[in-house]
Amino acid sequence: MQKIHVKPDGNWMNDPNGFIYYKNQYHLFYQCFPYDARWGRMHWAHVVSNDLVSWEHQGIAIFPSKMDDRDGCFSGSAIEDDGKMYLYYTGVRYLKENPEDINLCLDEQFISAQMMMISEDGYHFDNIKNKRTIIPVSENSKVADARHTRDPKVWKDGDAWYMVLGSTINDRQGKLLFFKSTDKENWTYENSTTKENGFGWMWECPDYFEVDGNQILVFSPMGFYKDGKSYENQSICMQVNFEKETCHMDIPDTYQYLDYGLDLYAPQTTVDEEGRRVLLAWLRMPAPVHGQWSGMQCIPRVVEVKNKHIYFRVHPNIKNAFTKKISSPNEADENGYKVSFALEDGESIDVGGFQIMRKGNRVYTDRSGLLDETWDMQTEFSTPDLRDGSQIDVYVDPNLIEVFINDGEYVISNCIYNLGKEIHNAKNVKYEIYTLHETDV
Ligand code: FRU
Repeated sequence: MQKIHVKPDGNWMNDPNGFIYYKNQYHLFYQCFPYDARWGRMHWAHVVSNDLVSWEHQGIAIFPSKMDDRDGCFSGSAIEDDGKMYLYYTGVRYLKENPEDINLCLDEQFISAQMMMISEDGYHFDNIKNKRTIIPVSENSKVADARHTRDPKVWKDGDAWYMVLGSTINDRQGKLLFFKSTDKENWTYENSTTKENGFGWMWECPDYFEVDGNQILVFSPMGFYKDGKSYENQSICMQVNFEKETCHMDIPDTYQYLDYGLDLYAPQTTVDEEGRRVLLAWLRMPAPVHGQWSGMQCIPRVVEVKNKHIYFRVHPNIKNAFTKKISSPNEADENGYKVSFALEDGESIDVGGFQIMRKGNRVYTDRSGLLDETWDMQTEFSTPDLRDGSQIDVYVDPNLIEVFINDGEYVISNCIYNLGKEIHNAKNVKYEIYTLHETDV
């Protein structure tokens, strides 16, 4: 049983997939390479939770078994209908296999089809009988790129089912495609959207949803952030206008990063048992932990909109789990701890070697002591100007620090290694530390 963060059961994890509250349980799948702590021919691994706090690994759910997905079962989503679980994903086939490593292709030579798997109960997945191609490899590059078209996110609105896919215009400009269906199996192309000269060359993992009447788009543009040290692919979100009759969507200029630590990627949302919009995302790790596993999921975050700003708040089930007060991080178990404080201009605190500072109206972080210098990664991050105050809640895991500022106004999450056991240099800062409450430990 894992708590708080979903981590792979060894080997490799990337994107969250098929996140759904189904038959009174949360099901989450994730991109997994089951043979090594690196990316390769993708499978979907499966974890289940009753409360978004404790997770149980269920093994591999979807694996390559058809011509169209023989080289990878890429990202996708889940819906429920008639009591069944429908999983949508992208099947990949290599046109040029790497002879030295058949789990990789050569020269980016692969093609993509959209596929569907039906499970009667969310626990059994028949990779031979219950999986089929629903949108074949594109033959019309004006509509969809045969190679880079992927990551179906499906939702229902009224009597129709909608699908959004990420794609590219000639490897130059990212784009989204919209499809519609009345039976979940036959899909018709409806529309597309892009932003000329905006947001990178390929848009991965799109997700569209409404929160209190606000229409929100989340996606992960490739080649977006270029400082030579950080990941070029970054996840952003924005408020959009989507006309469901025509599937017309305008992409605005303004956006927020999902997370200002820039390690977080490929988020996916679903609706929780109380109707909240809850999000998980992959934290990219620069190296496997003890050479054994790589990648983890963030704390479940609730998406809300207030005064035109998109908030990512810690899910209440996680908040409520960290209620046992302790006086030092040494008293916490392997699930980590939470440290809470207010930070005013000029104040700072050091959490196990991770620095958090307030300068003017911004929060700054520095993880330089907790990464191998030879990795040459970005170590310092900051929020934009704050508007809501100075409250900070830091969730500390041995390999991930998540700094929630003003209840999710901004979040800075950073992967870290060799975290210290002490909280230092909190000169004027009064802090409180919490670990998981008794019944959960
Ligand atoms: C994002 C992504 C997706 C793709 C998957 C493959 O991290 O590249 O676009 O479906 O990972 O593992």
